[in-house]
Amino acid sequence: MSFVRDGNVLDGSAVSDHVRGQLRDSVDALADAGATPSLATVLMSTDPASETYVSMKQRACDDLGIESVHRELDADAPAAELFETVEELNADPDVNGILVQMPVPDHVDKRRVLRSIDPAKDVDGFHPENVGRLVAGDARFKPCTPHGVQLLLDAAGVDPAGKHAVVVGRSDIVGKPMTNLLIQKDAGGNATVTVCHSRTDDVGAHTRQADIVIAAAGVPELVDGEMLSAGTTVVDVGVNRVDADNEKGYELVGDVDFESAKEVAGLVTPVPGGVGPMTITMLLYNTVKATSQQVDVPVDLPDTGSLGQEA
Ligand code: GUN
Repeated sequence: MSFVRDGNVLDGSAVSDHVRGQLRDSVDALADAGATPSLATVLMSTDPASETYVSMKQRACDDLGIESVHRELDADAPAAELFETVEELNADPDVNGILVQMPVPDHVDKRRVLRSIDPAKDVDGFHPENVGRLVAGDARFKPCTPHGVQLLLDAAGVDPAGKHAVVVGRSDIVGKPMTNLLIQKDAGGNATVTVCHSRTDDVGAHTRQADIVIAAAGVPELVDGEMLSAGTTVVDVGVNRVDADNEKGYELVGDVDFESAKEVAGLVTPVPGGVGPMTITMLLYNTVKATSQQVDVPVDLPDTGSLGQEA
């Protein structure tokens, strides 16, 4: 199966469809065992992008036969309401996974939210216990976006082992866990990693030396063709809304200037249709994994090292 189109465009939607096909079998197996997976999403925000992400996650659950529960709180509700909601979901045996959409409002302590979720149901992998396990090489849930990037690379036949990967961005959601996954002594890891961020002097000097560039800074079109060497694999994690003269009034652009990068790169992921679908797929993956662990029914899960062989 080829996941590459137009010469060097790595099609995240195609990889995502393939992985979701494999996950469907695991969902069916769990349902047959009387344990249909269930994901709870919690939204405490009026940010239109967050609302869109949450509804995309729910729709993806529906498509795969995963049950979804949704809790919505007013953005100006007391923080205690959010903690009570999480407590209820923690205690509900019919809920296998819990996701609180970030960002939460400023009056809510984000770190306390992450700590409040039962680590066994923490399908984002953001609870400090799960972050620690990832760093220690004993991950329970790999965070969805970096795990999706690992599978994308695998599907394209790009093994990071021994390669120089440059991660641009140091967020808790992408940059830090991506770096940790890439340095693990494990399939999809074993890379030499450089991390660039907002205080890095001359990002291009680093990206030009990379075999793999992962752009996750949240800055529209930060990485362009001039900052890349020929043949580099470029993964664009950015999803930035920029003003546009169209019906919506905005368009989505990545952290990579796609047109100039495509001229130089060995492979490049588009926005949309690159990392985005994989993030949601890996959320489904973690929900299936959480359910399997909670009910003690083993299921097959696709993982790094398996897709490349099918490509
Ligand atoms: N906001 C942006 N990305 C994410 C994510 O992966 N998980 C959650 N919970 N919130 C987010």
